[in-house]
Amino acid sequence: MRNKRDSAHIALERRQSRTPLFDALRNYVREGTLSFHVPGHKHGKGLPEFTRFVGKNVMNIDLTIMPDLDSIYKPHGPIKAAQDLAAEAFGADYAHFLSNGTTSGIHCMLMSTLRPGDKFIVPRNAHKSVISAMILTGAEPVYIQPYVDNYLGVAMAITADEVRQALRQQPDAKAILVINTTFYGMAPELERIVEIAEDYEIPVLVDEAHGAHLKFHPSLPLSAMEAKADMAALSTHKLLGSMTQSSLLLTRGDLVDPQYTKTTLNLTQTTSPSYPLLASLDIARKQVFFRGQEMLTHAINLANWARYEINNSIPGLYVYGNDMVGQPGCYEYDPTKLCINVRALGMSGFEMERILRQGFHLQVDLSDLYNVLCVVSIADTKENVRTLVHALSEIARKFTVQDVREQPIELPPLPALAYLPREAFYAETKRVPLEQAKGKIVAEMLMAYPPGIPLICPGEILTEEIIDYVRMLTEADAQIYGTEDPNAEYIKIVR
Ligand SMILES: Cc1ncc(COP(=O)(O)O)c(C=O)c1O
Repeated sequence: MRNKRDSAHIALERRQSRTPLFDALRNYVREGTLSFHVPGHKHGKGLPEFTRFVGKNVMNIDLTIMPDLDSIYKPHGPIKAAQDLAAEAFGADYAHFLSNGTTSGIHCMLMSTLRPGDKFIVPRNAHKSVISAMILTGAEPVYIQPYVDNYLGVAMAITADEVRQALRQQPDAKAILVINTTFYGMAPELERIVEIAEDYEIPVLVDEAHGAHLKFHPSLPLSAMEAKADMAALSTHKLLGSMTQSSLLLTRGDLVDPQYTKTTLNLTQTTSPSYPLLASLDIARKQVFFRGQEMLTHAINLANWARYEINNSIPGLYVYGNDMVGQPGCYEYDPTKLCINVRALGMSGFEMERILRQGFHLQVDLSDLYNVLCVVSIADTKENVRTLVHALSEIARKFTVQDVREQPIELPPLPALAYLPREAFYAETKRVPLEQAKGKIVAEMLMAYPPGIPLICPGEILTEEIIDYVRMLTEADAQIYGTEDPNAEYIKIVR
């Protein structure tokens, strides 16, 4: 028995040590093939200034569809082999390489499970790619308003009870989207949510833009595939080292038709993907399979060291950790996300970001009114993290610590949906000052940090409370996004 298991494991390791796509590209380069195909830069020679800077090898493998290199449209050679290895490593039935980010994976998840008019359960703090996917599919959103932590000013993950309640009220919903983890590292109780969805026989689609690494370390929250969710889109580029825009779409189980998923993916996916991006996915998969746990242990230890130092030796700063587990919307958390709360220094996260950038040449991942979010990854060293802690300490010394109480964030009530997002998007619209749009059906989104929840989405009726809330946020220096007008003073409404 033992020998059998060992030999299965040896075979698995032998398979996972292969990098079929990367090898095919290297062979092509090694053979010195004379190119009479696109891309027209032909190994960088047509763009020498750029090639000198980025390096010849990147340009050498910037190739296109050909029999030796396979096609993303209908993979059957090295791309298929590389995708199969990714499926195995991530615990999925199928894996699809994406060269247009997790956004394209999210579009595919909705388009392959929903038809126009289908109800779809979705956390209100979903990424804008989910809103655009609703415009593409014509689905009807049923929003779950997540709990907001008043001290952090951050929207949390949705809870299993909220999902159960939403499904009781909307038993004809056709799919549910879950974010694992949120931008700030909060993880939902995914296994329970999947069990609830199973009772209704609807697929659970997981936005795992911030969760590509979860499967590979026991101290990290459960990944979508481990929790037996049906589909997940993962930004491998964010936390697993592959190049920006390279992501994965994973599927498993019987509720998802693999052929239809591929057909849907092909509706929007380029037929000319970047081979350097795809090859970086192939290598990142191999790396995380063999070294994921070791590299992530290092990242988690570094982040926990910084968390401890900041919480214990820098007055006025606070980084959440185990204290958050068990709060509504935080079943587990990702310790590699350092959400540094600066409100007791009497400054905003935006200001802290500016000082770190301009005074210390440090760039954070995100800032909001109360926090800066720093990502500690598999690439960090103790020295990097020490530099960050030192900079924070220098900055904090110049501020007086204030006694800050929680300020409840009273979000305006969810507005009524008058049109489906797609109907509003394609309707005749005009642009009017936000202040004059009360009672109108809007055709675009208004989104604010904090707490990272859209205040209004396409098809909803703008209320006085939302206008007041936007005014309050603008006065507080918070950022408002989503409208074509970059200052969000005007909004598009249905005529
Ligand atoms: C929660 C969430 N979902 C989806 C995306 C989209 O991912 P990508 O940038 O890989 O398209 C992001 C990007 O930041 C995100 O934060």
